[in-house]
Amino acid sequence: MNRNDAPRNPATTAPATFHVKSFGCQMNIYDGERMAEMLGTQGMTPAAEGAEADLVILNTCHIREKAVDKVYSDIGRLTRDDGSRPMIAVAGCVAQAEGSEIQRRARNVDIVVGPQAYHRLPHLIDKVGRGEAAVDTDMPAASKFGALPARTKQARPTAFLTIMEGCDKFCTYCVVPYTRGAEISRSWSAIVDEAKALVDGGAREITLLGQNVNAWTGDDDKGRAQGMDGLVRELAKIPDLRRIRYTTSHPNDMSDGLIAAHGEIDKLMPFLHLPVQAGNDRILKAMNRSHSADSYLRIIERVRQARPDIAISGDFIVGFPGETDAEFEDTLRIVEQVRYAQCYSFKYSPRPGTPAADMDHQIAAEVMDERLARLQAVLNRQQAAFNAATVGRTTQILLERKGRHPGQLIGKSPWLQSVVVTAPELEIGDFVDVDIISAGPNSLAGETVRRKAA
Ligand code: 5AD
Ligand code: SF4
Repeated sequence: MNRNDAPRNPATTAPATFHVKSFGCQMNIYDGERMAEMLGTQGMTPAAEGAEADLVILNTCHIREKAVDKVYSDIGRLTRDDGSRPMIAVAGCVAQAEGSEIQRRARNVDIVVGPQAYHRLPHLIDKVGRGEAAVDTDMPAASKFGALPARTKQARPTAFLTIMEGCDKFCTYCVVPYTRGAEISRSWSAIVDEAKALVDGGAREITLLGQNVNAWTGDDDKGRAQGMDGLVRELAKIPDLRRIRYTTSHPNDMSDGLIAAHGEIDKLMPFLHLPVQAGNDRILKAMNRSHSADSYLRIIERVRQARPDIAISGDFIVGFPGETDAEFEDTLRIVEQVRYAQCYSFKYSPRPGTPAADMDHQIAAEVMDERLARLQAVLNRQQAAFNAATVGRTTQILLERKGRHPGQLIGKSPWLQSVVVTAPELEIGDFVDVDIISAGPNSLAGETVRRKAA
């Protein structure tokens, strides 16, 4: 018997404990939290370790092949020493993309539930109890948000809040428009209410989430059409909400209002994640990005005019089908022009069902390895330079978690850098002014200058 065929422990048909493991993007983390909160309202309690739980939810990512492989190896590992296993649910984008196919590849998967259907998990758990098939990859017209219970109190000072979901851009390499569906904005009042609930529960920083978060549109409480800048302005009125961030944005949705907001709203942090993916116009066209290298650079310039100290972040793909050495050099060139504070870079991964997967001239793995190494060398240098430039400055950080050593706490600067301080008298959730005394490639060290910032 292969490990993926292990029988389920019969005692787990009505699970009392659960464990959610989220892979991939921040939206999956948010979805994982909402699933956990919903199961909590059903009387279930969280278990620390996956295999100990009666129900394990793998909240999966389909963006690159490696992310998918991880899920299947995780499913195999859930079999306990005595041969029993928990009830297993595969949620997220792999569930959406592969549907019941997952159960053919890993027969011990009990539930398959897509990202727009997870509010129906309790119903699917009941179905498993009745021995029925429990696959739900519907994209119902009514949003899941209306069916989910209200947010419960979070123990952390930072929170995610999904304001829109899905993508209509159809970049030719990307599975997201197929797994997350069309762009749908949540309503103004639902977002404002959720933000207030998070702040009441202790959140001091909220990161607004969406696959194209800056494409958010909606009507405010007076019926006026608003974009994301209007929404940010409204959220900035919540007194105890001190910091607002948003991710991920598309260059074509960087409106004049949003660019201006960066210079006008103090609570909007000076950080912009704006992926360009590549620096060559022929490749950008083949990717269906619908912007050029130049138009991207002009947006960056305008954002910097509005907020000169803004940290710019991005995503890059190397080895898109047909990318020549000279075209790749254009990616290095745009990186030099932008001067990023941090970045994510990936080797192109062909995704089933996307147009680029069928394109000619797929690039050899060794070529991608070499390009990625060259790109990452430049990006790492830029990140180190950005961090080094903050040494000697005094800045405010929000303490988020404990460090490795006793008395150590780790917070984030406004520019999303991790800052380590030794301050046993402080607590997670405190804002504190620190002098930055040294910078490493991935974090800064600071000394507190005042016990707590006002
Ligand atoms: N291959 C490699 N990277 C990809 N991304 C999206 N699809 C692919 C793919 N098929 C990257 C993009 C995107 C980020 C979330 O993941 O850079 O911005
Ligand atoms: Fe994928 Fe492009 Fe949509 Fe981003 S904008 S989610 S890369 S299709």
